[in-house]
Amino acid sequence: MSRAAKETRIDRPGGTFDLERLRADFPILTQQVHGRPLVYLDNAATTQKPNAVIEALNHYYRTDNANIHRGVHTLSERATSAYEGARATVRQFINAASDKEIVFVRGTTEGVNLVASSWGRTNVRAGDEVLITTLEHHANIVPWQMLCAEVGATLRVVPITDSGELIMEEFERLLSERTRMVAVTQCSNAIGTVTPIERIIARAHAAGAVVLVDGAQAVAHVPVDVRALDCDFYAFSSHKLYGPTGIGVLYGKERLLEAMPPYQGGGDMIKTVTFEKTTYNDLPHKFEAGTPHIAGAIGLGAAIDYVNGLDRAAIGAHERDLLDRATRALLEIPGARVIGTARAKIGILSFTLDGAHPHDIGTVLDHEGVAIRTGHHCAMPLMQRLRLPATARASFACYNTRGDVDALILGIRKVREMFG
Ligand SMILES: Cc1ncc(COP(=O)(O)O)c(C=O)c1O
Repeated sequence: MSRAAKETRIDRPGGTFDLERLRADFPILTQQVHGRPLVYLDNAATTQKPNAVIEALNHYYRTDNANIHRGVHTLSERATSAYEGARATVRQFINAASDKEIVFVRGTTEGVNLVASSWGRTNVRAGDEVLITTLEHHANIVPWQMLCAEVGATLRVVPITDSGELIMEEFERLLSERTRMVAVTQCSNAIGTVTPIERIIARAHAAGAVVLVDGAQAVAHVPVDVRALDCDFYAFSSHKLYGPTGIGVLYGKERLLEAMPPYQGGGDMIKTVTFEKTTYNDLPHKFEAGTPHIAGAIGLGAAIDYVNGLDRAAIGAHERDLLDRATRALLEIPGARVIGTARAKIGILSFTLDGAHPHDIGTVLDHEGVAIRTGHHCAMPLMQRLRLPATARASFACYNTRGDVDALILGIRKVREMFG
């Protein structure tokens, strides 16, 4: 039985699209795993790549590969123009004011580390506070912890309700004239909560704090407009947006980036070097020391072009439908518990099953061809708050089908039989 064949025409409240055609853009999805059709539900960890992205990487290495910015020859000019073109594509995608505000980094992790290290060491002093939330991924915890330890600042944490929503009264209470930075995720990777970042940004600014948004999980699911949000920094990873690994983006307001010292020293980030003194390059190059991931940036540009070609409202409604269907079906399984029941969620379903460790669930599902994530999801403090060692997590992307959800639920019922 072909799962997707029944789902050619997707008609959701947000719009209509051809799911079968969309799936054909992702060659990896046609394979079998353990003799079953692959059902890929680990999209919060990384998404699969469409042909357009694979072709862009292939084309770059086959025809344009050269180092950028420094060469006068044709290939170098082509590579530079493709790399800088990708930057312009990113700028439009998140509606930044200028290409100077788009810094290519390795991913969200490096983006946060860059800000903690460069902005943080310059602006955070002993006695100051950095405010994060219980929902954060380790990438948005550890760099701040390291900064606080180094400068003698204090890390404060906004608590959550049992359903996984931020307690906004506590956020207001913790925000003070000592708060220099509010670093907050837009969507929880572990339990799917969408946080009220508009309100957080407005309140943080009123208190005189700077705001970094971790957009790693948001960017594939929610349209992002950094100027409408008015966030100071926004970090995301290409690989969660159907693009290649090893590349990501740090957006920063020009005024802030201009005032920050370089993060790393080396080639490309300089204007002049003598043994006595170095002058730094203009934005954004000041923050891009060394040969960057040229192919990665070009691949990210291709991924954004691909996403821009989708009906994002329809895809959003489709992912919502998959989440609702999976949640309803899961709750009918005895001993199953949904972890994270916030009112606003992206397509992430974390769950536990009485008597079965999440790793056992993951292993049994893998034998059914169903790929999910199990563990602490790089959010150990959140797991502690939820009093759980781990969860199983299914996460949805544009190419998933109702058939995928049914395969997931069948697999979990099988686990139930084995461990119940
Ligand atoms: C919310 C969130 N923040 C940060 C990261 C880190 O992203 P990367 O490993 O691509 O740097 C992830 C990755 O799972 C994430 O989900």
